[in-house]
Parts: sequence; structure tokens; C-alpha cells
Amino acid sequence: MSLRAAIVGLGNISGAHIKGWNEAEGVDVVAGADISEDAVKRFEEQQGKPGFTDWRDMLEAVKPDLVSICTPPFLHPPISIHCLEQGIHVLCEKPMAADIAGAVAMARAAREAKALLMVAYCHRFHGPILKLKELLHDGTLGRPLFFRGCFTGLADMEGNHRGDAAKAGGGALMDNGSHAVDLYQFLLGKIANVSCRAGTFLQHMETDDVAVMIFEGENGCFGEVLVGYSIPPQFTEWRIAGANGVLAMEDYFSGPVRFWSRETKEWTDYECDTSMTRFERQFAHFIECIKEGKEPISNAETALHTQRAIGAAYQAALGKGLPVQQRTTG
Ligand SMILES: NC(=O)c1ccc[n+]([C@@H]2O[C@H](COP(=O)([O-])OP(=O)(O)OC[C@H]3O[C@@H](n4cnc5c(N)ncnc54)[C@H](O)[C@@H]3O)[C@@H](O)[C@H]2O)c1
Repeated sequence: MSLRAAIVGLGNISGAHIKGWNEAEGVDVVAGADISEDAVKRFEEQQGKPGFTDWRDMLEAVKPDLVSICTPPFLHPPISIHCLEQGIHVLCEKPMAADIAGAVAMARAAREAKALLMVAYCHRFHGPILKLKELLHDGTLGRPLFFRGCFTGLADMEGNHRGDAAKAGGGALMDNGSHAVDLYQFLLGKIANVSCRAGTFLQHMETDDVAVMIFEGENGCFGEVLVGYSIPPQFTEWRIAGANGVLAMEDYFSGPVRFWSRETKEWTDYECDTSMTRFERQFAHFIECIKEGKEPISNAETALHTQRAIGAAYQAALGKGLPVQQRTTG
């Protein structure tokens, strides 16, 4: 029997979820909800399925097996917790929540629930990232020394929930930075400590449009994450330096993953598996987890660690670091 999927939040990213569930084997999209009547109408016209302006009414009416939560982050905890308590599986968009308290509450609900919670850190399923992980784990790079993850691109966020601190919990760092931090965790392990700068340079919004975070992993590797809605995509770059050389992705979206060997002084290109998109893999993984009762690879525990690292970075950004002393003599 097919799994019945419902979508809460019918904006931008909901398109990937609707497509994902429509194309996945053994899942039917049965309903969608949004506070925007226009979004509900569009959903009903395009999908031929009922739309609701209140997500609780939708759950009551259609009783789905799983819910995709595609709302702004401050709504992720209340909707997820409600669904988990009803035994409904949840695929919740990243970041897990707008703050650490919300993410902790979600993690508690997930521990107590019979249903699964997966947080949609889709880049864990990206072909070039999977190749990078393989080359880290087969010893090609050797001991990791320095990680750089730069996710940049020009995006006008005025009026978007990402510019509203209460709804999003932060700007570029919470949004794209959480993907980068989550990828560090996926590839190299947990983060031990962080420093950060986060500022609003070119856009009229409450949250950061440029942020840089430096950190140390529990494994001793140093790291840097740079994000910005006001920095062009020419700055997007992924590199990891290790004892045996450098792993690099010059084209993040299609690869190849390149390795420069300290021994041979040459570059080797590794092609990546692009037979499935990161979204296709993500949805297939969640269905497999539901069917086999497995814990998703992006779960409450991993997403909570990412949320804590981003939260610590914003705290560190308030501190502004140590002042440089002006020399008054000599
Ligand atoms: N995984 C990714 O790569 C990726 C990409 C884009 C967005 N996202 C995440 O997805 C989430 C949504 O982002 P978006 O770009 O789609 O935002 P969006 O603003 O385009 O869409 C959000 C939708 O939620 C609706 N909404 C607000 N309050 C609601 C409520 N109480 N009930 C039902 N619907 C409600 C809004 O009306 C809007 O239609 C964010 O957490 C974002 O970070 C993830």
C-alpha cells in the first residue's frame, strides 16, 4: 500500500518535495496546507488534491502517513512535534528550528515517538559530496587539517522570511551556513568550538547577509565556513587540506572532485555519480528508512548538533573577538 504524503508550507522548496513524492515509488501526495490562499489554490489546481489554510485541519481530514514541513524555521518545532505525537513520519526542512530550544524540543519528541524524524539536509545526498566522503574515508587525503566550505550567491532577501530574525533565527549563516556546517559533520565529525563574524552589509533586513565562521572539529581539524546573500557565486568553493594533499570541488554542482597529491604533485579527477539528484536520493532514503524502520542519516541528533554549532557561532559573533592594541610608544 502506498504511503500518503501531505505538505505543510507551499512556497519555494515545497516544489521539490511535491515532485519528489510524486516521482517516488510507493508514495502519493494527498494534500497540502499553507496560510496563503493563493498558494493553496495553486496547489489544488496543479495537483488536483485538496488544499487547506490550516495544517491541523489538513492532518485531521486526510490522516497522512508522512508530512513534509516546508515552512519558515520557527514553525518547524510545533508542526513536527504535533505530527510525531500523532505517529506521523516527518521530513522537516532545514534548519531544524529557528533556535536551539526549538531543536531540543523536536529531538525530545523524536526520541519518544514511534514515527521517524528526518531533517532535509539534502546536500548529504549530493553526488560530489558522496565522492568526497569516499575519498576521506578510504585514506586518500590522510589526516584532515583544514576544511573550507563557501556557499555564496546573490539573492535579494528583502521581504523573505530569511530576513526576519524571529521567523528564521538568522540569515545566510542559519540558511546556507547550516548546510555547510552539516556537511562538515557528515564528512569529518562534530564541531568542538567556533568563532564568527556575521553582518548585514547590502540588504535591508534584520539578519546577516554575510557571515564567516571559523572552528575546530573534535578531530582537531580547523575549518572555515563563508556564506553570503550579498557575495557572488564566484566565491563558492569547497576544499579540504590533509596530510596527503588537497581535495577540491571547483564545480560544486556537478564535480568532478579533484585530488592534488603531495607525493606526485599532480591532480587526479574523480567523476561523481550524477545518476540521481540530491533530492531524489533524499526522498528515496526517507522511504527506505520508513519501510525498514532505520534511523535516517540526517536525524534529530545530527541536526541538533548543527543547530548548536550555528547557535554558538551567532553567540560568538556578538563578542567581536579581541581588540588589537594600538602601539602608543616605540
Ligand atoms: N534543502 C534546501 O536546499 C532548501 C532550499 C530552500 C529552502 N529550504 C528551507 O525550506 C524552508 C522554507 O523555505 P522556502 O524558500 O520554501 O520559503 P517560502 O517563503 O518560499 O515558503 C514558505 C511557505 O510557508 C508558508 N507558511 C507560513 N506560515 C505557515 C503556516 N502557519 N502554515 C502553513 N504554511 C505556512 C508561507 O505562506 C510560504 O508559502 C526554510 O526552512 C528553508 O530554509 C531548504
